[in-house]
Amino acid sequence: MTVPLRIALIGAGVMGRQHCQYLQHLAQVQLCAIADPGPQAGEFAAGCNVPCFADHRQMLAQVQPEAVIVANPNALHVSTALECIAAGVPVLLEKPVGVHLDEVRELVSASERTGVPVLVGHHRRHNPLVARARELIEQGTLGRLTTVTALWQVQKPDSYYDIAWRREAGAGMLLTNLIHDLDLLRHLCGEVRQVQAITSNGVRGFANEDCAVVLLQFESGALGSLTGSDASAAPWSWELTSGENPVYPRQADQPCYLLAGTRGALSVPQLRHWHYAEPGAGWQQPLQQVQEGFDADEALRRQLLHFVEVVRGRAQPLVSAADAGRTLALVEAIRQAAEHRQAITPETL
Ligand SMILES: NC(=O)c1ccc[n+]([C@@H]2O[C@H](COP(=O)([O-])OP(=O)(O)OC[C@H]3O[C@@H](n4cnc5c(N)ncnc54)[C@H](O)[C@@H]3O)[C@@H](O)[C@H]2O)c1
Repeated sequence: MTVPLRIALIGAGVMGRQHCQYLQHLAQVQLCAIADPGPQAGEFAAGCNVPCFADHRQMLAQVQPEAVIVANPNALHVSTALECIAAGVPVLLEKPVGVHLDEVRELVSASERTGVPVLVGHHRRHNPLVARARELIEQGTLGRLTTVTALWQVQKPDSYYDIAWRREAGAGMLLTNLIHDLDLLRHLCGEVRQVQAITSNGVRGFANEDCAVVLLQFESGALGSLTGSDASAAPWSWELTSGENPVYPRQADQPCYLLAGTRGALSVPQLRHWHYAEPGAGWQQPLQQVQEGFDADEALRRQLLHFVEVVRGRAQPLVSAADAGRTLALVEAIRQAAEHRQAITPETL
């Protein structure tokens, strides 16, 4: 029998506790310590039967975990991950990989120089339905991708913004929420050559955007749009349609991404595939509809199992720091495009 991998958790807030559920129940892993300076951390760690540290550096030195999950606030991601790498400890780092591209470049080079792997927690890529959608696209089932329509329209309750930092510049839905959709669009449709964007804070009036419309030109030539709003009573978002997280009541029949190509189209998350029966048919012939299948599984569970394979040296990270850095660069390009009202090419790392 394989000995479970000893993993410590740095940052035991909302997301860290979700990771904890899997750390405690999967046979391949064992939670060995928690590092979090917050007032609730000690009691939580005691409930998990592991030691608690206010300082993760002390935890790394004393516990010597084989790997860590970092789920602390965004601004600490890179500095924490660099300290783990310096201690030789592989990292599963929550998204966003960092806040600035320069710090992400430093992280990428530290990971490459030392060979200590970093897996970034864009967990949706581990969802089997996403893997199946990507496979269908790669197999050419849709032909050449032409246009992609992505929707993220939700209603965050006003109380969400009672927490001060959520109202402050830089913490808006682009970096918090749309980054997930942008990462999936890159994963499914390839790299983005150029973006244009309009953002608005017209509903809530905070420093951050509450609505955004983004135009994307992919390197393949495909065109896309992403419409986002956190002030809309609407069912079209990954959260509400995918059923990935039960805290969001599911609207199972509604799509969040519509991918269209010269030979067919696909709705996500339903994986309904549309095509014509005969080559050369057009809009006056009936479209056929096929329900594509996949084996449903939990994305966070699969991400953690993949992390074990990465740490054991049996897999390369599905989302490396460099890869997640390109998603962050895309977010940054959208911000600039909206600010300067011009088309922007995302930086490469
Ligand atoms: N993958 C996803 O879908 C997803 C969802 C939610 C949050 N996240 C990410 O997870 C991270 C945490 O978000 P959250 O919603 O859990 O926030 P949170 O505020 O609930 O939790 C953050 C925790 O970090 C702790 N912390 C603060 N400083 C620390 C330090 N120096 N060392 C260790 N711990 C420290 C806090 O005490 C708190 O317990 C963020 O980066 C966020 O982007 C990812």
